[in-house]
Amino acid sequence: MTDRQHSYNNVDVLISTEDICKKVLEVGAQISTDYAGKNVLIIAVLNGSFIFCADLVRILNLKCKVDFISVSSYIDTQTQGRVKVVSGIKEDIIGKDVIIVEDIVDRGFTLDFLIKEISLKKPKSIKTCVFLDKKCAREMEVAVDYNCFKIGNDFVVGYGLDCSGFFRHLPYVGKIKESV
Ligand code: PRP
Repeated sequence: MTDRQHSYNNVDVLISTEDICKKVLEVGAQISTDYAGKNVLIIAVLNGSFIFCADLVRILNLKCKVDFISVSSYIDTQTQGRVKVVSGIKEDIIGKDVIIVEDIVDRGFTLDFLIKEISLKKPKSIKTCVFLDKKCAREMEVAVDYNCFKIGNDFVVGYGLDCSGFFRHLPYVGKIKESV
């Protein structure tokens, strides 16, 4: 990809900053209602969820802790879509009401892995909060409990999502133009 292709001007806006703000407020309000009085642990999945999670937790009207997990995917010739933990959760999970916060669920392997991995640590409950749901790409069924937007099969960037590490900082979700 050229420098020119990495410019803001080369991205079509799919979901505007204004629409993101409204929707994140709505989802945050719903979580605040659903989790009132509970022992909440928010787990943000790095790197992609850093912006969504930062916006979401500042809306929550809840007593909660926030921790982070970093995972990476690798190709396994037999099973496809393997996920491994790069940096784990430091907070105690036993008895907590865990909410996993993801930027996107695509094929579903990452979220499926995380739910199984975190379940082993005996939380009281686990739910998922996903900014973008690319349902059409799903290969592994996973429960998405809170979702901001559903998208089609587009490769999207911005609001945490990257292309080769670039574009994460865009305050909107966009699609890179095919040619400039
Ligand atoms: C993205 C995203 C999810 C995962 C979803 O992470 O943040 O964690 O892919 O894909 P799946 O549903 O097909 O498993 P990525 O590996 O791109 O890393 P990043 O979060 O650092 O951008």
